[in-house]
Amino acid sequence: MLIDLEHLHYWMCAIRESKDYLRTLDAFYKGQLRSKEWLIENLEYYIYPEVNKMLDFPLSVDIHGGWVGVLSSMLFQSDIPIKNIRSIDIDPACESVASMMNKKEEIEGRFKAITSDMCAVKSEADLIINTSCEHITQDHYDLWLSGLPKESLIVLQSNNYVIPEHVRIADSLEEFKQQSNINVLWADELDLPLYKRFMIIGKNDKV
Ligand SMILES: C[S@@+](CC[C@H](N)C(=O)[O-])C[C@H]1O[C@@H](n2cnc3c(N)ncnc32)[C@H](O)[C@@H]1O
Repeated sequence: MLIDLEHLHYWMCAIRESKDYLRTLDAFYKGQLRSKEWLIENLEYYIYPEVNKMLDFPLSVDIHGGWVGVLSSMLFQSDIPIKNIRSIDIDPACESVASMMNKKEEIEGRFKAITSDMCAVKSEADLIINTSCEHITQDHYDLWLSGLPKESLIVLQSNNYVIPEHVRIADSLEEFKQQSNINVLWADELDLPLYKRFMIIGKNDKV
């Protein structure tokens, strides 16, 4: 996907003004960017033919574990019509970086970075995204899922990358489906040089 100059400018400001800019730069590894591009490509592909009838456009979006706001910025620049995005992260250092990363849309009143545990934020957005599934325990995930509405479209990502911060990886897409416990509408995996990324699009209406 193409990143325009105005957004690129804000990305650079966000990195430059980060207290720990090396940590912010972790969000720009090729695998991280490609995983988000993959999410958007599949959402675009999936949303138009299948979900068009289910969702009202433009979409309200909540990103749980939204980190420094790169996915938010990429979504705003995609072909998916976005009304607004809230990016929720438990790490207080993320809020100012994500706000700068999405400064254009923040000024327009379409972006808000929130410091909170994902379980403490009530989500009623059309689209609810969590690409940080590997960072929360199964109990924490189950609690988070139990608070989500049945109507929203849910997008989840995890991976099989063994590092200390990853408290709940999945060895396979099948295992990720079991962990996720949602009604799966679409699922796939992406081979990256160091790990596999898994993604599920679905709804919290499993009976
Ligand atoms: C390394 S980052 C993102 C990794 C993910 N693969 C991605 O690219 O989106 C994981 C984020 O999840 C956040 N996080 C972990 N537990 C959380 C929780 N309970 N509520 C909200 N955010 C959480 C961390 O603070 C961190 O910013």
